[in-house]
Amino acid sequence: MSILITGGAGYIGSHTCVEMLAAGYEVVVIDNLSNGSKLAIERVEQITGKSVRFYNADVRNKEALCRIFEENSIDAVVHFAGYKAIGESVKEPLMYYENNIVNTLTLLEVMREFGVKKMVFSSSASVYGKSEAMPVSEDAPLCAISPYGRTKLFIEEMLRDLYASDNSWCMALLRYFNPVGAHQSGMIGEAPKEIPNNLMPYISQVAVGKLEHLNVFGNDYNTSDGTGSRDYIHVVDLAKGHVKAVEWTMSESGCEAFNLGTGKGTTVMELRDAFVRTNGVDIPYVVTSRRPGDCDVLYACADKARSELNWQAQLSIEDMCRDTWNWQKNNPDGYEK
Ligand code: NAD
Ligand code: WQD
Repeated sequence: MSILITGGAGYIGSHTCVEMLAAGYEVVVIDNLSNGSKLAIERVEQITGKSVRFYNADVRNKEALCRIFEENSIDAVVHFAGYKAIGESVKEPLMYYENNIVNTLTLLEVMREFGVKKMVFSSSASVYGKSEAMPVSEDAPLCAISPYGRTKLFIEEMLRDLYASDNSWCMALLRYFNPVGAHQSGMIGEAPKEIPNNLMPYISQVAVGKLEHLNVFGNDYNTSDGTGSRDYIHVVDLAKGHVKAVEWTMSESGCEAFNLGTGKGTTVMELRDAFVRTNGVDIPYVVTSRRPGDCDVLYACADKARSELNWQAQLSIEDMCRDTWNWQKNNPDGYEK
């Protein structure tokens, strides 16, 4: 069976290519390399000993998409392609609506034209906004607080409407919590092109000496040590969740959201300390003011993914810290050099 992976040259996409190939699927990738790297695809091929059919094209380009569906017998689509930086989405909302929403619309139109009605979509815990009840389950109220989060929410609504109009579609909306870590080989990982916004890549760039110290955004939250708490999930566990979700789309019809998280919160200081302890490196830090829009605590109820997708995260915070560092120290400039 052939799976089209949009955004497959990016962080989560490249790890998902590895797991899909390992599970015996053929993989076709479309990526415009706006934030991905062709080298990531080459390394996926080295890790798996299998080949990936790669198209350097934009998902908004309908002709290019049609050509891919003509040249390959696609059974299902895993849709990662999009922009993902919350701060940038506040400054450039139209750029985010234009890429994330238009590319999904174009993709759905072409899928419908070719009769391919199985999709796994990269949603995000950001659709929950500032949820009060923890752990947060899929039926919690949805209320995104950034343009980025709203693109995910609107796309989810679009997919629900499409399913309501035609029940032969099957769509899994995967709401990721905080993906971190890298493949155990150290050959693929997260490669931010600019100063990282997210905690784990920031910590690892401090460890490798590219950044001076970690800024801890507030220590007066309502948590055990006052720093924000999140549900960090190893990217390899996350990638395996996509294999399970693709299998689910093959045997069901429906449009369902699934949280992909561990169900456990870890604070900023706990993550920083685990990184120091696991890797024997120092991470100097300074406590600064809160980052606007951040909440105290966010972690998943992952029961639905366990019971319906037969998926559960396996890897620990220590595994996440070890694999992040293994990738970062071997590739201090990501895929650049
Ligand atoms: P990423 O930026 O590493 O990967 C996205 C890939 O899509 C990149 O390779 C980029 O070049 C490509 N792309 C973007 N727009 C495109 C377009 N119009 N046509 C073709 N290719 C395009 O990001 P990631 O961390 O791997 O995230 C993948 C998906 O998961 C995104 O949709 C993101 O919003 C979502 N997500 C990510 C996180 C996270 O923390 N990383 C959390 C929740 C959800
Ligand atoms: C984690 C914690 C910060 C950086 C975002 C999106 C979410 C998903 C993942 C896309 C918070 C603190 C951070 C730093 C810090 N992405 N922090 N110093 O904000 O939970 O989630 O990325 O869909 O939708 O909202 O992740 O890694 O930015 O922050 O103290 O330099 O680390 O305050 O408590 P976040 P994060």
